Amino acid sequence: MNPSSPILLFDSGVGGLTVYDALRKLLPKAPVIYAADLAGLPYGTKTEAQIAARVAGLLGRMTERYQPRLVCIACNTASTIALGMVRDVLAVPVVGTVPAIKPAAALTRTGTIGLVGTEATIRQAYVDDLEARFASDKRLLRIAAPGLVAAAEAKLRGTTVDPAPIAEIAARLAAIPGGAEIDTLVLACTHFPLLAEELSQAFGPDVAQVDGAAGIARRIAHLLEEQSFAQSGPNRFVVTGPLDGAKGLESALAARGFGPAEAF
Ligand code: DGL
Repeated sequence: MNPSSPILLFDSGVGGLTVYDALRKLLPKAPVIYAADLAGLPYGTKTEAQIAARVAGLLGRMTERYQPRLVCIACNTASTIALGMVRDVLAVPVVGTVPAIKPAAALTRTGTIGLVGTEATIRQAYVDDLEARFASDKRLLRIAAPGLVAAAEAKLRGTTVDPAPIAEIAARLAAIPGGAEIDTLVLACTHFPLLAEELSQAFGPDVAQVDGAAGIARRIAHLLEEQSFAQSGPNRFVVTGPLDGAKGLESALAARGFGPAEAF
């Protein structure tokens, strides 16, 4: 394995940076290329066919160009829809991101878990399956929160987040029968941990927030444990579509050790 071969982290936008942050704690020397499909953002409002075609096509081209040692789909929406298909077409290991229902089920005391995700994620059979396997004796209440993706994108670009839409999601979830019992919230979209403080204000400090970032980072570190790393410069942040899409992210990227955004 070429020690400068990167890990490719892929998301529709900046959400996967929550996985990147967790990964850097475990593998600070690993070269990373982060790819944000800003031209396709948001995924959550697209159809399964649109998402699968886009993600498989882009990851095929990106893998050819960047020759990564491993690809991580740092996006719940893309993973719950296209993970199997991407694994079928790529010759490198592919790690996905799936809603953290298993750890949430281990954590809840009331037995009622809220799951906040994109519209596309919450309707996936993949999620039904995780619920059946790990939370069949719990109550799992799902809600779509598409507005939070845009809020997280804006927050990372330095904009103050409007608390009203987040409070509205908390109220809608609480209004579902049993919703008042929620003590654990699955953040089933990689963008949402970027709004942890705002979510905590809306849901209250006693509701635990669970996401998959640390678990995914551990999985990647485990798969690469025998490998050596050599960084030849700062990590790379590439975007699809106009480079202008990355405007405002300069300080968030610099703080994470990325060079200036590049066009894919
Ligand atoms: N970050 C993505 C996820 O984890 C989706 C955001 C979007 O493009 O809708 O689901």
